[in-house]
Amino acid sequence: MATAVRALSRVPRLDRRPDRERLGAYDTPRDVAAYLAGSAIIPALLEAVRVGGAAFDDGFRDLLRRDPGRYLRPELKHGMARPLPPGLDPEAPADPAVGLPLETWGETAARRGRCAELLERLGGAGGPGIRDLVMDNLDLQRLAEDGLAWIPGLAPVFRRALEGLTVLDPTCGSGAFLAAAADVLEPLCAACGAEPRFKNHLYGVDLHEDAVARCRRRLEQRLGGPVPDGNLRVGDALLDSGPFWSSAFPAVMAAGGFDVILGNPPFARIPREASRPLLRADYRSARPRWSADESLATLAVERCLRLLKPGTGRLGLVLPLAVACSTEPAFATLRRVIATEPGLWLWSHFDRTPNALFGRGVRARCSLVLYARSAEVPGHQWATTGLLRWRARARGHLFATLRYARLDLDISAGIPKVASQLQADVLQRLLAAGPPLGMDLGTAAAAGATVYVGGSACNWFPAWRELPETFDRRGRTVAPARVTRFACADAETADLVFALLCSSLGYWWWAVASDGFNLKQWLVRQFPLALGAIPQPARRELAGLGRSLALELRNHAVHKDNRGRIGNFRLPACAAEILAIDRCLASVPGLSPAFMADIRASNAAFSSAGNRTGGPDCPPGCGHAPRRRAPSP
Ligand SMILES: C[S@@+](CC[C@H](N)C(=O)[O-])C[C@H]1O[C@@H](n2cnc3c(N)ncnc32)[C@H](O)[C@@H]1O
Repeated sequence: MATAVRALSRVPRLDRRPDRERLGAYDTPRDVAAYLAGSAIIPALLEAVRVGGAAFDDGFRDLLRRDPGRYLRPELKHGMARPLPPGLDPEAPADPAVGLPLETWGETAARRGRCAELLERLGGAGGPGIRDLVMDNLDLQRLAEDGLAWIPGLAPVFRRALEGLTVLDPTCGSGAFLAAAADVLEPLCAACGAEPRFKNHLYGVDLHEDAVARCRRRLEQRLGGPVPDGNLRVGDALLDSGPFWSSAFPAVMAAGGFDVILGNPPFARIPREASRPLLRADYRSARPRWSADESLATLAVERCLRLLKPGTGRLGLVLPLAVACSTEPAFATLRRVIATEPGLWLWSHFDRTPNALFGRGVRARCSLVLYARSAEVPGHQWATTGLLRWRARARGHLFATLRYARLDLDISAGIPKVASQLQADVLQRLLAAGPPLGMDLGTAAAAGATVYVGGSACNWFPAWRELPETFDRRGRTVAPARVTRFACADAETADLVFALLCSSLGYWWWAVASDGFNLKQWLVRQFPLALGAIPQPARRELAGLGRSLALELRNHAVHKDNRGRIGNFRLPACAAEILAIDRCLASVPGLSPAFMADIRASNAAFSSAGNRTGGPDCPPGCGHAPRRRAPSP
């Protein structure tokens, strides 16, 4: 076994909390595993049966055309049979008979619009390809089972595809993903009259013997019989640079690799004792020296890409949000590696408050990735969701209502988190159109021409024309933490920049590009609208609106407790001023009233996630919840 593995010979115990946390050993919730397993496995099977003849494609298209509504997920089409009441308030809670839990009427109407668009497209002449089925987030299990019932000649071909399919979880823990794979495969076996022999093709690896033993017990209980001994192995999936894979799974590796790889690799740091030369030889995202900013997760993605069958393999992984947005070299390199992998990449992004995908115990921000390797389509296709926040009552429809937007841009700087196709299109145009705001920001400000920006955001963009009063725990005046000063040419320019950052565009850009918390300097500098792109009259108007907003903000000082005290101004209290700025921005070339309305709606859904039940501005635990107004020093 390789040196790196020997170095890890003090085998940690997963029942000890510190070891569990260090290794990122957490069970994946059922809904997450089910979503990824279904979205990777069923298209892999549908793709495999295409080899049996294009007629099957026509058969599936026919099913979709004849009754498209049948394949929309039940949560997505909830309430569609009832009419919307007239004159509804888009911001008011929807009637539960028509809306999903916690939906506003505006959101219900948008969901229905999406259903109508899908129904029209699925029912239309061309029909979707298999790649669209995942992006459209249809009920693929139902489609496959219906196909087996109704498409002549499909069952034997499908059975062969099922029997040949190989599924791996390289860091399997107690087997959440392999059990989810069994949940997908078993009814399909039943539908095509096959013995559930797929259990011979579920493979798992974990560093820990006890995890592998638990995985075996779980699968055997789930499948009602033994899993072949060699399918579940104790081993180092990431740091072993020896011939582990070819000796552990010779037949699969000889066939080119696994058809489907699923998993939730550890997000933990790379152990210091791992051999750097070996790591560097194996992984492009490994740094020359140990760094706290690296993650086992980037190694896991690279490993999975190497283990995946060329031309057809499919991947479904839970990853840290950093994969989408961190500017650290390990993550930026991983994105460059990803950009060399042709096929369709779908990304969905999940914040950690008010709820987290893994519950209270593991408040990590995550991205889920679904990758379909394709030999047919040269180059890549990217699609993404916005950064999602949700409350516990909305968890039941979180995955069924995921909505992807296609992106056509270089992802090396980050994968933008946009909530609609309109947002994706506008963002692409803005990024392509010209230099970002940074070119208008200098280093030395003229008197009164500074814009201050706080170091983190939650429910609004913390930009100020004057620093908010800030106190420490004893009530003494202190400087606010982590503030950046941006210098402008004159006060009017500063008012204009301030208006831009406080607009709905500013908060949207933070949600699109940030890690969901920090507001780094680059994010302001990369703001995708330079002042020169704004026509002169609009510039003058925006500067005036910025000035009025700064005056109004003075009346809305708040005091926030975040490991010490931070002064802020409560921007949402200035809704009328922001609306005026947004209206003016809607006339700027490249933006539009429809786009501004769209981002206002998604900002409201995002920033009010903590407010839906009348709670504080920020969800508890995010460290931003205003406690009370600033005390007099
Ligand atoms: C976040 S848990 C996920 C477990 C399981 N896949 C699930 O989703 O429920 C990560 C798992 O990776 C395992 N692990 C950590 N480092 C590993 C490595 N180098 N090789 C194989 N498994 C590893 C841990 O033991 C742990 O069980």
